[in-house]
Amino acid sequence: MLNDQLKVALNDQMNFEFYAAHSYLAMAAYCSAESLDGFANFFLVQAEEERFHAMKFYNFINAMGERATIQQLKEPNNSFSSVLDAFEKALEQEKEVTKSIYHLSDLALDSREHATITFLKWFIEEQVEEEDMFDSIIQKLKRIDDDSNAFFMLDDEFAKRSFTPEGE
Ligand SMILES: [Fe+2]
Repeated sequence: MLNDQLKVALNDQMNFEFYAAHSYLAMAAYCSAESLDGFANFFLVQAEEERFHAMKFYNFINAMGERATIQQLKEPNNSFSSVLDAFEKALEQEKEVTKSIYHLSDLALDSREHATITFLKWFIEEQVEEEDMFDSIIQKLKRIDDDSNAFFMLDDEFAKRSFTPEGE
């Protein structure tokens, strides 16, 4: 049985994950418009991952005998000055998600809600990976700087990324 505060927080997190998907889609659209199909693919896969995260919350809320409420998504940022800028905004967003997952975990711990505590462990590990991934791409892009060969090699590499739901 989930208490009201936890119910609301889980539902908010589900909607936040849907919003994250929305926001990555905006980053993909920017890259597509710049004819950077590999980077666009990277963000499209990322958007799928976020939708998968949202559905994990959706399924958990249902499994706990509650009802998920789907909310309106706010408009994501659609303006980027460069691919590096998009990745820096992506990392910022992931840090916000991490904060939100930690807050949710604190609530679950305070309520001694063990099912939720266990459910959230996967997300805590996932956030470490997400932040690390974006951080290393940012470092790479900074090192590449104006080496266009290296930049297009990275674009090629990201064209191969595909969605694989982990931990299922
Ligand atoms: Fe996520």
